[in-house]
Amino acid sequence: MANRRVIVAGNWKLNKTAAETRSTIMSLRNKLAGVDTRAEVVVFPPFVSLETAVDAARETTVRVGAQNVYWEKSGAFTGEVSAEMLEALGLDYVLLGHSERRAMFGETDETVSRRLAAVLEGRLTPVVCVGEVLQERESGATADVLKRQVEGALKDVAPDHVGRIVVAYEPVWAIGTGKTASPEIANEAHTLIRNTIAVMFGRSAADETSILYGGSVKPENTAALMAESELDGVLVGGASLDAASFAGIVRAAG
Ligand code: PGA
Repeated sequence: MANRRVIVAGNWKLNKTAAETRSTIMSLRNKLAGVDTRAEVVVFPPFVSLETAVDAARETTVRVGAQNVYWEKSGAFTGEVSAEMLEALGLDYVLLGHSERRAMFGETDETVSRRLAAVLEGRLTPVVCVGEVLQERESGATADVLKRQVEGALKDVAPDHVGRIVVAYEPVWAIGTGKTASPEIANEAHTLIRNTIAVMFGRSAADETSILYGGSVKPENTAALMAESELDGVLVGGASLDAASFAGIVRAAG
């Protein structure tokens, strides 16, 4: 692996109250105490638990991110939050374009691109999620889909901002299904994504971009995935909800 940032991220989705967030992070900090890892550990709780999460993670190496953000700074946008508001809470990361947002909440490459531009105006690290659905994989469209999603999301990014972007490859057929992509399939997709970034921004920018794999990551399959040259970390859903299992993934990531 090149000299890229390694990240183990937990996407909690619609799970955990603020009190549960605090106890999970407390338990995680105990379980990670003394664990020597090169990975940056990040959790993504629901909006209402973010302040508690930042407080619980204080003086630890655990970072906190939000699961989404709106592109406008303020105004009549009921139900939305801005990048500036998230920064003010002390967050470090934000997820963009998760497949559940694309499938259920109308997210498109265009809206991901707008969110990304807003995030890059501030200091949060964006994690841009891409990935094909089963039918696209089976019909041989994976490469086209990944290229379209990466180009669509990153089209307005200034060259000097590319280095701040993290990409997460999450094949939709592997999310929450227990069917992890094989390390080879994941590595091939990561290579495609990296090559697309190289065409857009140059090889050295692409070589510095961390690309995470997500989709049924568990403590037992993490090491094999992380052994692949193009995988720089994992984005974990279900298995990140339990502190012991998430800590097991951090340890397995090395
Ligand atoms: P999963 O979810 O680990 O439960 O498959 C991954 C994700 O949606 O980020």
